[in-house]
Order: sequence, then C-alpha cells, then structure tokens
Amino acid sequence: MRISGNTIFIAGGTSGIGLELAIRLSKEGNAVIVGGRRRDRLEEITAAHPALGTVEIDVDDTASIRRAFEHVTASHPALNVLVTMSGIMHPEDLTSPDSLQIAERTVTTNILGTIRLASQFIPFLREQEAATIITVTSALAFVPLPMTPTYNASKAAIHSFTESMRVQLADTSIQCIEIAPPGVRTTLMGQEDSEAAMPLDAFVNEVIALLEANPEAKEIIVEAAAGLRYAEANGNYDEMLAMLS
Ligand SMILES: NC(=O)c1ccc[n+]([C@@H]2O[C@H](COP(=O)([O-])OP(=O)(O)OC[C@H]3O[C@@H](n4cnc5c(N)ncnc54)[C@H](OP(=O)(O)O)[C@@H]3O)[C@@H](O)[C@H]2O)c1
Repeated sequence: MRISGNTIFIAGGTSGIGLELAIRLSKEGNAVIVGGRRRDRLEEITAAHPALGTVEIDVDDTASIRRAFEHVTASHPALNVLVTMSGIMHPEDLTSPDSLQIAERTVTTNILGTIRLASQFIPFLREQEAATIITVTSALAFVPLPMTPTYNASKAAIHSFTESMRVQLADTSIQCIEIAPPGVRTTLMGQEDSEAAMPLDAFVNEVIALLEANPEAKEIIVEAAAGLRYAEANGNYDEMLAMLS
C-alpha cells in the first residue's frame, strides 16, 4: 500500500490506535474517515481534527455497517482503504457464568464485526484500481494472555481469516495487510499508563515507517511484537506463555 493519496475508512477510529493512526495518515496526505459508536467522540474529533471525516457505526449491527458503508462511499467515492480496527478486550473468569456474556460480545465485535466489514466493503473496493484491507489482530493471537481467552482467540481467528482473504483476493486489486500490535498505551483494557505497553505515538510511528519501507507487506509487526509473533518459530512458545500466565 502506498502511504499517501488514499481515501481511508477506519472503523474503530474514535480513540486509541485508530484515532492516532487516522491523524498520522491524514498528515501523510490521505483523506481519512473515522467511525465508531460514540457520538460525543465523533463530535469532539470533528472539532479537534477538521480534516478527518466521521461516521457513526456499530460493527455489532449489520444494518449500521451498511448505513456507514453507504454514507462513506457516497461522500468519498474514491475510498480505497478499509481498516477494521474496532475491538474490545475484557478479562474472563472461565469458572464464572458471567464470562459467557463477555465471550459472546467479544466474538460479535472482534470476529463477526471484522468479517461483516470485509463482506460489506469487498465488492466496492475491488472496483478501485488499487485497494487495501487492513485487519487488526494482536501479538496475543500468537501466544495467548490466559486472562483474556476469547479476546486472544478472536485475534487468532482474524489472523487466519486474513490469511485466507489474502489468497482469495490475490487476483483482485485488493491487498490485505494484518497489523498485530503488542501492548500499546490505550484505554482498551486500562493499559493507558502501563510501562509494559508501548507509547501510542511510538507505536504508530513504527507502523507508518514499516508500511512506508515495505508497501507489499503482509503483516506489520513492530519490534515489541516480534517476540510473541515468532515465539513458536523461535522455539520459546512455552516460555512466553509462562511469562503471560
Ligand atoms: N492497545 C493495545 O495494547 C492493543 C494490542 C493489540 C491489539 N489491539 C487492537 O487495536 C484495536 C484498537 O484498540 P485500542 O487499543 O486503540 O483501544 P480503544 O481506544 O478502546 O479503541 C477501540 C475502538 O474500537 C471501537 N469499537 C469498539 N466496539 C465497537 C463496535 N461495536 N462498533 C464500532 N466500533 C467499536 C471503539 O469505538 P466506539 O467505542 O466509539 O464504538 C474504538 O474506536 C483493537 O482491535 C484492539 O484489539 C490493541
């Protein structure tokens, strides 16, 4: 993917990594539209970052995805990049019946939300001369954090989904890129002040640099994510799992 001159829709761009990426990509010379459920956040973003477009979207709801799709493609017919950033992460105690509700919500947003977005946008994107779908998984797709079992599983599912999607779309104009972040300082699960997580701006800077350096990249793996991403290949999976346990 070239780093400028695109029209990019980031579903899940109202905070954290999505918003930081939107601001940076806008500065790089892309038209960027961010989406999310929180109307107050969308209004704040419009006021603080007038260059960014906004659209309300709930990826748990197919009708909402369709409305957002119709809105962004009507207002931005050159749209050629979809980023499926929307995600939730909650701890689950598998010995408690309450965990089932968390698991079902996680599957709905993180797995179904991504698949529904891809399904809605692929027919439109494949008509563009050069298009990209960027999915967002996690280093935890490759070694799980036992405290968040369904979250890890949802990201592993989207890793696998992206691998198949890339093969199915190989003969189209759509490139598929997976970003697998390490811990990054956002409010996703209260890690905004964690020393163990990467500062948000440093993470997004590294992502942009990697995209720029390798426009054909299949995966964007920053240095801090490499240990978990390649643990199995490196032969230290058990050691990494013990560290996360
Ligand atoms: N931060 C990390 O350490 C880390 C590590 C690995 C992967 N990731 C992934 O990076 C992505 C962004 O997370 P973040 O850390 O930036 O956390 P965040 O600030 O909480 O961002 C999550 C985004 O997802 C949106 N979202 C959640 N549920 C949604 C729904 N049903 N429909 C539409 N949008 C929804 C939120 O918008 P609204 O609330 O406005 O809907 C928000 O914009 C997630 O997929 C996360 O799993 C993060």
